[in-house]
Amino acid sequence: MYQTLSIRTDDHVDHVTLNRPEVRNAFNPTLIAELTDWAHGVGARPNVRVAVLAGAGKVFSAGADLAWMAETSAYTREQNLDDARRMAVMFEALDTLPIPLVGRVHGAALGGGSGLVAVCDIVVADEQTVFGFTEVKLGILPAVISPYALSKIGRSAARELFLTGARFPAVRAREIGLVHAVTTADQLDANVTGYVRELLAAGPEAVKAAKQMIRRVWTLTGDEARDLTAETIAGRRVSEEGREGIRAFLEKRPPRWTE
Ligand code: COA
Repeated sequence: MYQTLSIRTDDHVDHVTLNRPEVRNAFNPTLIAELTDWAHGVGARPNVRVAVLAGAGKVFSAGADLAWMAETSAYTREQNLDDARRMAVMFEALDTLPIPLVGRVHGAALGGGSGLVAVCDIVVADEQTVFGFTEVKLGILPAVISPYALSKIGRSAARELFLTGARFPAVRAREIGLVHAVTTADQLDANVTGYVRELLAAGPEAVKAAKQMIRRVWTLTGDEARDLTAETIAGRRVSEEGREGIRAFLEKRPPRWTE
């Protein structure tokens, strides 16, 4: 159905693979349109509870397609704005995906590739992966991805890494909060599966609500957060899932989630 993505749905999990290995999964307008389309459609597929984002071939993603970037130098300002906005919509759609997005990262995640890492909820990286917000080395800058990268790595690391464009290893990516687990190549899939199992064992609606709450609470004042969080937990306590989860614990049995 898509030219630049391959999607396999398996036991409540969408496995989404960026599929332009010949250009190291660099994203062009087609890939951007397809990934946006997939992300916008997930909410309407209640059977899908987790998504895993990976890259085909040698690397996760080399970021924006530089052949496309070169073409944009001849675009008008309006064309460039439209084009950049479409990329911004893709990152926003991934960042606000209603279900957890797990990144399976190997080889390289550079420029917008590190931006894709930043919009994943959980990231497992092969220890050999090279990361980098390399844009300034190309005379551009990490603009569209900056809200997501900043909220993951904070200002201090961003000031170092956005300004130098330096490449850095997986252990550093973990130190700054861009990735959560670093593994050997042969343990990468097992680690991803471990996270997916954890997510699937939790209440499906509770997981979605937790993800949404993180995003909302982040921007609230103390007063607003107090009201929102009290309302949120009050609602979950009386929900079917909340009742079933707590009852199952007290009855010493696994919960039966309805999907
Ligand atoms: N856009 C377009 N094409 C890209 C690309 C990108 N971002 N990154 C790699 N490619 C292409 C190369 O031009 C090359 O094409 P060719 O086979 O026609 O020569 C092909 O992909 C393979 O790249 P190569 O560098 O030979 O692969 P590698 O496995 O040795 O290294 C990377 C992979 C990702 C480390 C390296 O390609 C790289 O550093 N890419 C640039 C990443 C970057 O700075 N991105 C920021 C974009 S804003």
